[in-house]
Amino acid sequence: MLGRAVGERLFPGALILLEGELGAGKTVFARGVGRGLGVRGPIGSPTFNILIVYNGRLPFHHFDLYRLEDDEELFELGIDEYLEGDGVTLVEWAGKFGRFFSQPALSVEVARLGDNERSVSLSAHGAEYVPILEEIMRLRG
Ligand SMILES: Nc1ncnc2c1ncn2[C@@H]1O[C@H](COP(=O)(O)OP(=O)(O)OP(=O)(O)O)[C@@H](O)[C@H]1O
Ligand SMILES: [Mg+2]
Repeated sequence: MLGRAVGERLFPGALILLEGELGAGKTVFARGVGRGLGVRGPIGSPTFNILIVYNGRLPFHHFDLYRLEDDEELFELGIDEYLEGDGVTLVEWAGKFGRFFSQPALSVEVARLGDNERSVSLSAHGAEYVPILEEIMRLRG
């Protein structure tokens, strides 16, 4: 599972920005990341909660900004503190608030190819994410 392989390699303060249409598979990927971070128990979709925090090897902050209306709401959630903390922050629909997420991050684009087929593109924005992608390429190679 690709998300899990990513989660196993994340470091304190890591940021994952997830993009993809409704139903593309963002939450499934996020669940894999959580598993890779050692989160036990159910990992659901934060669509209605906006944010769910889990405990794993590192704290795991799972955001879904789909229902968020404006910048102020994002501030009120304390996004800055999460981004500055030692946990891992993963954001579904990050593009809606793209200007907030200009720091180094791993960008993940999920797309639906068919009922049971998805494509996932990973891109490193910042040198610290490059080794993660290299390792995953080697695993899959
Ligand atoms: N890698 C995958 N292979 C096959 N099916 C998948 C995969 N990832 C997700 N799915 C299926 O796609 C559907 C939507 O997945 P998911 O909830 O992760 O999407 P999402 O992008 O988070 O949606 P939303 O935009 O509503 O938050 C689910 O039925 C899920 O089982
Ligand atoms: Mg989702």
